[in-house]
Amino acid sequence: MHVILCDSAAEVAVAAADLVTRRVRRGPAVLGLATGGTPQPAYRELIRRHREEGLSFAGATAFTLDEYVGLASEHTQSYRATILRDFVSHVDLPVERLRTPRGDAPDPAAEAQRYEESITAAGGVDLQILGLGTNGHIGFNEPGSSLSSRTTVRALTRQTRADNSRFFNHGEEVPRLCLTQGLGTISAAREIVLLAVGSGKARAVRDMVEGPVSARCPASVLQFHPHTTVLLDREAAAEL
Ligand code: GLP
Repeated sequence: MHVILCDSAAEVAVAAADLVTRRVRRGPAVLGLATGGTPQPAYRELIRRHREEGLSFAGATAFTLDEYVGLASEHTQSYRATILRDFVSHVDLPVERLRTPRGDAPDPAAEAQRYEESITAAGGVDLQILGLGTNGHIGFNEPGSSLSSRTTVRALTRQTRADNSRFFNHGEEVPRLCLTQGLGTISAAREIVLLAVGSGKARAVRDMVEGPVSARCPASVLQFHPHTTVLLDREAAAEL
């Protein structure tokens, strides 16, 4: 785990965009895209580079990490709609090469397996972008998740549902179940870039970087990964 301390959230975004840019310029890349608020400034920086510097994603394929069970892709808070809005629709990544789990699939468990197989069929993920939950989750792998799990259906914790309620309309129920790449799936990515900003993440960052590798902090499994870069602002690094 290579930990980089940045002065600000803006610097974290630029550093993440630099790593993605380097990989995309090397040739056709399979990118793993995270949703959530943290990577949004990095996506904006990549969109700027696409528009102003000709950075092209035409040869790339993208897989998202997770999806809410029950939300159709047209729902504004589905992670497919989110990643299209935040990133993919603003660059030249062909939309047919954006792969996402179907939240409204009639059989979510079968959908999880299909999604896992589609990642394998694409040759695996070259570069995975990750955020970090306040409880140490990555993707939607909540504390207690198996460290070797593959894409599966999971229940969301009360805390994660509360954290994410800000994205939903007032009175709208945050889904209780999700489809998520497992910790084993995520760990199979050849390169991982995890971003964390703000004091709300400081404890999870400490547990991830300095704690024992344990399902109590799912992100701690990244200590085993041979090529992970952790980008932190000062607040997120405060407890290291
Ligand atoms: C969400 C997502 C994760 C994300 C994390 C942090 O629940 N499933 O993929 O990384 O929580 O979100 P944020 O970046 O908004 O703090």
